[in-house]
Amino acid sequence: MDAVETGRLRAYDIAHIIHPQFHLADHRDAIIFERGEGAVLTDSEGRTYIDALSSLWNVAVGHGRRELADAAAAQMATLGFSNSYTGYANVPSIRLTEKLLSLVYPDMSGIFYASSGSEANEMAIKTARYFWSVSGKPSKMKIISREEAYHGGTMAATAVTGMAPFHKGFGPEPPDFVRVPTCYHYRCQWCADKPSCTLACADNIEATIVREGADSVAAVIAEPVHGAGGVIPPDPGYWPRLRAICDRHDVLLIADEVITGFGRTGRWFALEHWGVQPDMMTIAKAVTSAYVPLSAFIASERVHRAILDAPADAKFMIGCTNSAHPTACAVALRNVQILEDEGLVARAEQLGHRLNDGLARLLEMPNVGEVRGLGLMAAVEVVADRATRASLPGGAGPRLVVALRERGVLTRVKGDSILFAPPLVTTEAQIDRIVDATGDAIEAVATEVGGR
Ligand SMILES: Cc1ncc(COP(=O)(O)O)c(C=O)c1O
Repeated sequence: MDAVETGRLRAYDIAHIIHPQFHLADHRDAIIFERGEGAVLTDSEGRTYIDALSSLWNVAVGHGRRELADAAAAQMATLGFSNSYTGYANVPSIRLTEKLLSLVYPDMSGIFYASSGSEANEMAIKTARYFWSVSGKPSKMKIISREEAYHGGTMAATAVTGMAPFHKGFGPEPPDFVRVPTCYHYRCQWCADKPSCTLACADNIEATIVREGADSVAAVIAEPVHGAGGVIPPDPGYWPRLRAICDRHDVLLIADEVITGFGRTGRWFALEHWGVQPDMMTIAKAVTSAYVPLSAFIASERVHRAILDAPADAKFMIGCTNSAHPTACAVALRNVQILEDEGLVARAEQLGHRLNDGLARLLEMPNVGEVRGLGLMAAVEVVADRATRASLPGGAGPRLVVALRERGVLTRVKGDSILFAPPLVTTEAQIDRIVDATGDAIEAVATEVGGR
């Protein structure tokens, strides 16, 4: 596409599309993507970039997959959509459910499909409350979530999101949502000065349940590894401790695997790392590698049973027009087959070592405070001073994004942490280029903002 047409489209986009997390000043130089192949995206003027965050953590099998296009086309030509409300079903959603239940935690039994991660979390939260309501404990309604969490943009999903900017300007938050500190060891109020996590953050969740009253708490929701909040992997003892706390107080544990699911951490699902089973889990993003939207919450036997056995006057009245969408489910089935056929879960683990080891070498730089990650997820936290962990003078994060973009690498930041989650098909050479570009970009930005 020529520069004139690109300019026209860009002007129309700015004038008329309200983008997520929008601010006009941030959108002036928007890249208009035109094509993608593997880990590489090409813009409307022919520039190429390594997609180091799999776009939004979701294009797991990479761009330009003909197999997924064919799966969508075949299903659309057969049955593009049909009603999945009670009394109706379709073939791809049943086949996908069989497949997913064979991959997720052993105790999982029932799947409710939606279209976005936000909806999946919204419905999981409503279902946790519904569970207690039909289980004779209707006072258990509070939902506990963690700072730095990102769970989505709808009302309840935002209420459990732990980052302040997502709450500003949208009026009062709904009642009965309680947020607690998370397992961010590098900046932990309890143990940042200690060599490893003391799990005080997990114990604080127990104290919170006790303080609020266990008879008022429905569920704790958490990402196995924080994604947008800064790629924060927990201490290995964290999830087993959280599971035990929830069991002790009869509180449901909801794992938001919207980012961590489908191989991202080197396991099909991230809680496998620590041998923990949730009561509910949510999935989205990489279930279809984002070629079409699909999400779900998956309920354990216990939660599912409550829905199956509900009395006639307590029907499970949650609706989504696109629930169990046949085309989305057909694409998901094909996507999961690609993950299996190409051994991409194991590949994520191997590539993750290369990425994390490469980034760890940047710790020699004076402005790299911490490198953390799990599987093919990683973050580099940039600081002004390693000893004090002080941040760089304001605005370094966005500059890091621009500096990386100028070096042909696309990613996002949380504060001054640069986030990485490239497609599971990224080549070794591309991983090395991401690492090299990151070192260069940090060097350039630290010099520019006067952090050294
Ligand atoms: C962990 C997590 N949960 C939920 C969501 C919300 O998903 P969606 O944007 O599809 O609504 C996101 C989105 O990034 C996410 O990272």
